[in-house]
Amino acid sequence: METKRWNIQRGTTINKQFISEAAALLKVGETVAFPTETVYGLGADATNKSAVAKIFEAKGRPQDNPLIAHVANVEQLQQLVDNLPEYVDDLITAFSPGPLTYVLESNGACAENVTAGLSTIGVRIPDHPVALELLQACNFPVAAPSANLSGKPSPTTADHVDEDLNGKISGIVDGGPTGVGVESTVISCREHDVVILRPGGITKEQIEQIVPVAEPVNETVDKPASPGMKYKHYSPDVPLWLVGGGAEKIQNVIAEETAKGKKVALLARDAILELVEADLKLSLGSSLEDVANKLYDNLRKVKRSDVDIIVSEVFPESGIGQAIMNRLKKAKTDYIP
Ligand code: TXA
Ligand code: MG
Repeated sequence: METKRWNIQRGTTINKQFISEAAALLKVGETVAFPTETVYGLGADATNKSAVAKIFEAKGRPQDNPLIAHVANVEQLQQLVDNLPEYVDDLITAFSPGPLTYVLESNGACAENVTAGLSTIGVRIPDHPVALELLQACNFPVAAPSANLSGKPSPTTADHVDEDLNGKISGIVDGGPTGVGVESTVISCREHDVVILRPGGITKEQIEQIVPVAEPVNETVDKPASPGMKYKHYSPDVPLWLVGGGAEKIQNVIAEETAKGKKVALLARDAILELVEADLKLSLGSSLEDVANKLYDNLRKVKRSDVDIIVSEVFPESGIGQAIMNRLKKAKTDYIP
């Protein structure tokens, strides 16, 4: 299959012709990747079962892992769900469009493979001008997981999507690099409180301003509240070691491996990179927002170089740091606290 590519530069007027071509492919049941503020998504008409099946096929995604339905506005969100708890309106006012996914009772409007047979559906309104234009042009909900091969780091550029899915999908709308860099926060919306199923772009502290956040209960590795969390994720092509304790400890670990003839890449913020010697230094900038924005691109970069181990610093688990550490703990092969 030929994968079409449309280039829409960020900051310039969105080319309507490109949007309508992409929407037309979605309408006839094809798959098209598009940018959101978090990561690129691989979209298909959420009301069309065979279109949705193509997403699972292209990604090699396990069939029991449900997809998020993307919509342009609150009215479209309401058309997919039953029994919207009152506080959800306040969450929507505060955080949508934005990197927050609401898991609510499904009314069955989407195809059954979107929800992987669950009675609930995840819905979000992405905060990206290209995504919103595309969703408006479609006028149907667009099911979209991250546009990577299953198990690989999520794509934050159109080139990442191309690397994983060229020839397997109908098109890629290139809207430049994404902003947030890690995926949306997924919350289960219960009657009077929410449970965070996956930490992401909206932090626990932000949600707690609006509604109580309860701890997850009865979660086991085999049956987590969010099916996707049980699978291996975000894996770079070389072993990743998470090393805590600061620059000196990191330097010791690297020196030990270097002495054994290993080539080591260091993934860290600039403050640490300046203090530590390594064969390859991968900069994650300075703030935790920078780290989130640059993380997946750097995990993908390592494949193209010839290192034996990636050492990453351990990040503080506050704010967006919760999402960063959640992803790194899933990607790691070793944790030296
Ligand atoms: O930022 C994002 O969320 C990106 C962009 C493209 O929107 N999408 C994304 O989708 O990360 P995906 O499929 O890679 O991750 C969705 C997560 C999975 O862990 C899935 O199991 C969970 O959301 N999920 C979806 N629907 C659910 C439901 N009804 N109940 C529980 N978890 C659900
Ligand atoms: Mg994903």
